[in-house]
Amino acid sequence: MNNLERIEELRRTTKLPHEDMAALISTISDEEAKVLYKNAREVREKYYGKDVYLRGLIEFTNNCKNNCYYCGIRRGNEKAERYRLSLDDILACCKTGYEMGYRTFVLQGGEDPYFTDERMAEIVRAIKEKYPDCAITLSVGEKEKETYALWKEAGADRYLLRHETINPAHYSKLHPAELSIAHRVQCLYDLHDLGYQVGCGMMIGSPYQTIDNLVEDIEFMHGFQPEMAGIGPFIPHKDTPFRDQPAGTLKDTLHLLAILRLSMPQVLLPATTALGTIHPQGREMGLLAGANVIMPNLSPTGVRDKYMLYNGKICTDESASLCANCMERRVSSTGYQIKVSRGDCVKVSGN
Ligand code: 5AD
Ligand code: FES
Repeated sequence: MNNLERIEELRRTTKLPHEDMAALISTISDEEAKVLYKNAREVREKYYGKDVYLRGLIEFTNNCKNNCYYCGIRRGNEKAERYRLSLDDILACCKTGYEMGYRTFVLQGGEDPYFTDERMAEIVRAIKEKYPDCAITLSVGEKEKETYALWKEAGADRYLLRHETINPAHYSKLHPAELSIAHRVQCLYDLHDLGYQVGCGMMIGSPYQTIDNLVEDIEFMHGFQPEMAGIGPFIPHKDTPFRDQPAGTLKDTLHLLAILRLSMPQVLLPATTALGTIHPQGREMGLLAGANVIMPNLSPTGVRDKYMLYNGKICTDESASLCANCMERRVSSTGYQIKVSRGDCVKVSGN
């Protein structure tokens, strides 16, 4: 197969043999990439039309008990200025977001023992009570199944937990020994089992990542069938062990977005903040390569620059309303349009 045949086969069957997927990723030309993106757009439009869903991201704590080598809020980074939002702060973010048309709130934070299972459940209940028409997404790391069940009962709808890399050897180069890919995958299956819409994903160009690793990630996701897939370029943070590692590239990230769209036609696929960080129009290009979700920051301006997973993160000076206007312009520039809705995965909502 040549690359155009590979793109056609991927679109038709949602799969490629391992070697062909590896060849496509490593040899695709700019001209072939245009064909790949066009196919990805056609598939996304088949299921989601021109709609772009917004998720209001609330980064409610940057305290973390983990020490992942790539992450700026890792426990070992003594320079990180730590913060936590109160329940009232969080509800104020939701109010602002609701008025701006957001119907999904994503509560993202480090693994912070202060937010016990019961405290998190209270937060979920409080948001759900005020905004019953909104979806709540949690992104707070690895927990026991009972904990995930408690939060589901409290009203959580979705859960984001990037697997980061499915290859155990690669996983151990990105994480200290106390974290394992086996446990993370267990969490993902537990979440699905409990009825969450689940998101997994990986960084593109993370240190020591090979093309084979990326293909393994795609194959894992194809088998797991997540409702959401979060991918963005790795970007080094100056106060982490990976400070001198090169960032992932715009092109590789766009190729992977389009490949994931063709591999999982109905998946919710965000054009991430990290993509917008490595290129000023990165998110717009992501939308034109098959992405259909954007996650603008709703965190209070005073803490935004403290949730620094990587250096150079965009939108840290802007207020929520500035971000909303900016997003409106950016999305319309692509020919797509923001849709005020929960934006569930079509697999689940059956729309
Ligand atoms: N560059 C890009 N993405 C990062 N993340 C953490 N650190 C970095 C970094 N340096 C991503 C991880 C994590 C998500 C919340 O942010 O994939 O799952
Ligand atoms: Fe935040 Fe543009 S989306 S300023």
